[in-house]
Amino acid sequence: MKIAVFVSGGGTNLQAIIDNIKSGYLADVEIVLVLASNNGAYALTRASDNGIPSCVVSVKDYADKDDWDQAVLDKVKESGAELIVLAGYLSLLGTKTVREYSNRIINIHPALIPSFCGAGMYGIRPHKAVLARGVKVSGATVHFVNENYDEGPIILQKAVDVRPDDTPESLQQRIMKECEQVILPRAIRLIADGKVTIENNIAIVNS
Ligand code: GAR
Repeated sequence: MKIAVFVSGGGTNLQAIIDNIKSGYLADVEIVLVLASNNGAYALTRASDNGIPSCVVSVKDYADKDDWDQAVLDKVKESGAELIVLAGYLSLLGTKTVREYSNRIINIHPALIPSFCGAGMYGIRPHKAVLARGVKVSGATVHFVNENYDEGPIILQKAVDVRPDDTPESLQQRIMKECEQVILPRAIRLIADGKVTIENNIAIVNS
């Protein structure tokens, strides 16, 4: 299965996908494109270090949001990707791309949806909100992407305990390592193996 990975930052989730392809867990998966929302994303270095084609399509470079949406869509179509993986991609995708790749876009979110998600809840922010609320478990969610932030069908979730001495940064690191980098490759494999279907807006996982 050919995938396009969309990134905005460090790219630890991209690295986890690359590592799982190399280890054979994602043997049938090929990253045909890394698309970044900005040219400062370290994920671009990870792509070039691994010989993966990459590009930057920044909304700031387009006068009109529809033109930017079309440019993103064109890049994905050119690449031949069958699945778009949002791996720390912090722009809201355009309507055209979401509709054209309906049920073929997944996202990793660093909290247990439907808590601590939605507009403005990205990066370190969900972890700060988790600690401020005093909840005792948090984690990560992989879900399909629709036109609203973090509202598409949930594919996989994984939780960790929140510790009394956690800082937002320590919690973020633990969730990235123990949750995100585990369930994102697992979800890609399940989709590649044809084990995920959607019925009435619910993802059914036949593992
Ligand atoms: C990850 O924690 C990811 O879950 C989060 O951004 C980080 C990117 O890290 N995504 C969101 O907050 C999306 N709402 P990475 O660039 O090292 O993979």
